Amino acid sequence: MSATESIPTRELAERAKLITTRELGVYMDRTRGSQAATQRARKVLPMGVPSSFQAYDPHPIVVRRAQEAWMEDVDGNRYVDFDMGYGALFSGHCHPAVRRAVETQLDNGTLFVTPCEANADVAELLRDRYGLPMWRFTNSGTEATMDAIRVARGVTGREKIVKVEGGYHGHHDEVMISMKPPVSEAGPADSPRAIPSTAGITRAVLRDTIVVPFNNLEALERALQGGDVACFIVEPVMENIGICKPLPGYLQGVRDITRKYGTMLIFDEVKTGITAGWGGASGAVGVQPDLVALAKSIGGGLPLGAFGGTYECMDQISSGKVLHLGTYNGNPLCMAAATAVLTEICTPEATDSAIQRNRLLLDACDTIIARAGLPAHTVQFGAKGCVTWAAEPITNYRDYKATDFDLAFAQWMHGINRGVLLPPGLDEQWLISVLHTDADALRYAAVFGEFVDELLA
Ligand SMILES: Cc1ncc(COP(=O)(O)O)c(C=O)c1O
Repeated sequence: MSATESIPTRELAERAKLITTRELGVYMDRTRGSQAATQRARKVLPMGVPSSFQAYDPHPIVVRRAQEAWMEDVDGNRYVDFDMGYGALFSGHCHPAVRRAVETQLDNGTLFVTPCEANADVAELLRDRYGLPMWRFTNSGTEATMDAIRVARGVTGREKIVKVEGGYHGHHDEVMISMKPPVSEAGPADSPRAIPSTAGITRAVLRDTIVVPFNNLEALERALQGGDVACFIVEPVMENIGICKPLPGYLQGVRDITRKYGTMLIFDEVKTGITAGWGGASGAVGVQPDLVALAKSIGGGLPLGAFGGTYECMDQISSGKVLHLGTYNGNPLCMAAATAVLTEICTPEATDSAIQRNRLLLDACDTIIARAGLPAHTVQFGAKGCVTWAAEPITNYRDYKATDFDLAFAQWMHGINRGVLLPPGLDEQWLISVLHTDADALRYAAVFGEFVDELLA
């Protein structure tokens, strides 16, 4: 490996495209079973997948088994899983304690649709972690953010909401706005236009959703000062554009401004949740929102979401003013899995040691980047990490759009063919679960090093 000071970024991107072309050929060869399975599925499922996020060209890996920190596709290829269900598996695949808890619950029934004692058990566990007193369960992160927004509207009597450009909060209408807007259509960086991310969004919904840049307190204050905004929904650390951290003082500023204008602050911790540390991102950054939305890793692989809030907020539900409903809410199977996750598996010690293991991996990647002098850097938040193909840290969606997608794509495709599985493209990050070993974690760095060698060869 040699230093790249003399290699312009454009030249690196050209080399990356050559690697991508070659690796796509290899991919087609080694994933023929996935190709056939996708061709069959496309006849009955739009894009051949159950959720559009899972589709990518030329066809996604189709998986037949997963345990611990690995997955095996229908062609028999084995991968160290760094995707972990888009960050939903901090417990690892099928953790023995989740399996035990679910098997025990199966003996006692799968669905009651009337309360079980485990509902209060899990609510107490979440209260202890997040410091918010009252909780309700949902089946997904989408429902958790949707219900939290409704509560915020109930408590304030206001209709408008504010979200961040580039932020993803699930697939309900209010938040499917400016998820990944084309920059050419998105207006000025400091007062972005609200752009629907899908057909089917009504003009009324669009009118009620205001979009602001992350890490920009002036823009937030401008949006709130009319006194007509119910809530600001934000990930405390953005995890749908790689990992984008708040600048020092930003989240405290957000807390102060939302209080000043009587706007509820919703932290979307669907991704950061228990992967950021024992008390989530709220605990790590030391800022308390009015409402928090959770999902993904709290369910240990089962579909579970939750939202918690202050008494003021959650009294909206207690009083019957805001209705929160759902047949599967708090079902005993998910409660059993969540109890195992929150008590036995993701203990403070296990969480810290996954974070330390993640640090090992980041250090190894930092060494490779520094030695090669690449226009890239790593970002860590808790047990998650990523390589971002830009020399400087990104602070918002516009910075992220300026990073090098050719390099990111080539690295991703190169990794898959060597048994390193990450979510497609640059949007996501890796997760080191409690079941990844040091060797599993360092596999990413070894393959990354090979990629960098090729890039510079
Ligand atoms: C930050 C964030 N919020 C909400 C959601 C929606 O969660 P779900 O896919 O469980 O509906 C996601 C999903 O990726 C997410 O990343």
